[in-house]
Amino acid sequence: MTENTRNKFFVEDFEKLFKLLNKDENKDKNIDKKNIRLKRTFEDLARLSLMDATYNSGMVFNTECCKPHPVANMAYLSFIDRNMCKEQYPSVTLMERDAINWLASLFNNKNYSSVKDPLGYISSGGTVANIVAFWAARNKERLRGGKRFKIIVPESAHYSKVKIEDLLGLKCVSIPVDEETQIVNVEDVEKAIDDETLGIYATAGTSRFGLIDPIKEFSDLAIKHNLHLHVDAAFGGYILPFMKMLDNEVPDWDFSLPGVSSITVDPHKMGLCPLGAGAIIFRDESFIKAYRYKADFPKITNNSLEGSKCGGAVAATWAMQQYWGIEGYKNNVKNILSIIDYIKNSILSLEGVSLVLNPIPTNILGFDFGSNENNRIILEKLKQLGFQISGLRNNSGVRIIIHSHVKLEHARRIINCITELHNIIVKNKEELSFSSFDSVLNELKVIQGAEPLVFEEEE
Ligand SMILES: Cc1ncc(COP(=O)(O)O)c(C=O)c1O
Repeated sequence: MTENTRNKFFVEDFEKLFKLLNKDENKDKNIDKKNIRLKRTFEDLARLSLMDATYNSGMVFNTECCKPHPVANMAYLSFIDRNMCKEQYPSVTLMERDAINWLASLFNNKNYSSVKDPLGYISSGGTVANIVAFWAARNKERLRGGKRFKIIVPESAHYSKVKIEDLLGLKCVSIPVDEETQIVNVEDVEKAIDDETLGIYATAGTSRFGLIDPIKEFSDLAIKHNLHLHVDAAFGGYILPFMKMLDNEVPDWDFSLPGVSSITVDPHKMGLCPLGAGAIIFRDESFIKAYRYKADFPKITNNSLEGSKCGGAVAATWAMQQYWGIEGYKNNVKNILSIIDYIKNSILSLEGVSLVLNPIPTNILGFDFGSNENNRIILEKLKQLGFQISGLRNNSGVRIIIHSHVKLEHARRIINCITELHNIIVKNKEELSFSSFDSVLNELKVIQGAEPLVFEEEE
């Protein structure tokens, strides 16, 4: 194995496992063969792991997930063997109740304190939570004898919409977004509502730009037409409340609006939990009752779409709330906002560069380097340098997501690289070719340490 810290991690694990499995060596005649297989398996794991960039490399700028907090990791591992079954693992049920109440309170749902059961559950992710929201809406409609089946969905919504349509037999009516603002027109949404409309799918923190739909206006429509208004805050749910606490202007989007029926949020995105932790929260119990299932064996009341579910996700979500709490998440967002300001101001000081959307709604920046061709070149070259980064549709911009794993030195590195690339574009306006970048790319690789994969020790 080559000498890098990621591999060391595997070597150490291998050695620990080796000792553990060899404790009873005299009893096992096949121990030598097993040891060879163990070694080979771990060598393969180490090799496979080398394919992925680590968050610590500071090169990852395109994911909505982020490096889990060590407290969340530890909590996850401690409960990794527990299922969501009240009789067998009451601890997980207790933590889930607390975790959902914490989120309900964060999203201004006062009902949680007066009900026996939690107003939602920790799902395996945001897609599942979105499906469950409309599962409840559809079943509520059936229970009241109604036949409404259409959902109004802004074009910018996450592709959960496709699965909702397919699995629940609902029809999504797509509303195009305004080219300039990337947000739907409320009048277009209202025009699309008819007698068959069951709900609206809103987003607080879109995947592409982190935008917030006009949820206050949607809420008014939901009240007026008796619709289920679901807010997908998978990405924005752990940012927007804290941005507001930090005196940033954030429009109302949560249960403080009377028309909001349900909210999705992902602890495994900005909640800094390991993957496998999403959440759905309803306004009141009637939604859960519409799909809840009483099983005979084991004798449980199941309020989730999943069957077996890892207790680790619940423990991680709960532990972060207890350990970090509101203050911790607020400080996290504060740090992210200061890095955003630094990157934004540095890149905007370059000639001819502008923001694709201004003001920036959350923690996604889109830069336009003057033309689609410039954007394409900068994006491609950044990728060649090893950055994980994505572009906007038709090369209309370069998109950078700032998370807590992006430290000041990482911000400096990407700013330096972008500045160098931009300088070449400006200098060679007339005769720009990809080879114009060759020498600077090589230099940047050495100076910035920006090899395609940079492996640093995980904390
Ligand atoms: C707005 C939004 N909703 C839903 C999802 C889906 O979440 P998950 O990947 O946890 O299923 C995402 C993730 O990309 C998202 O950005």
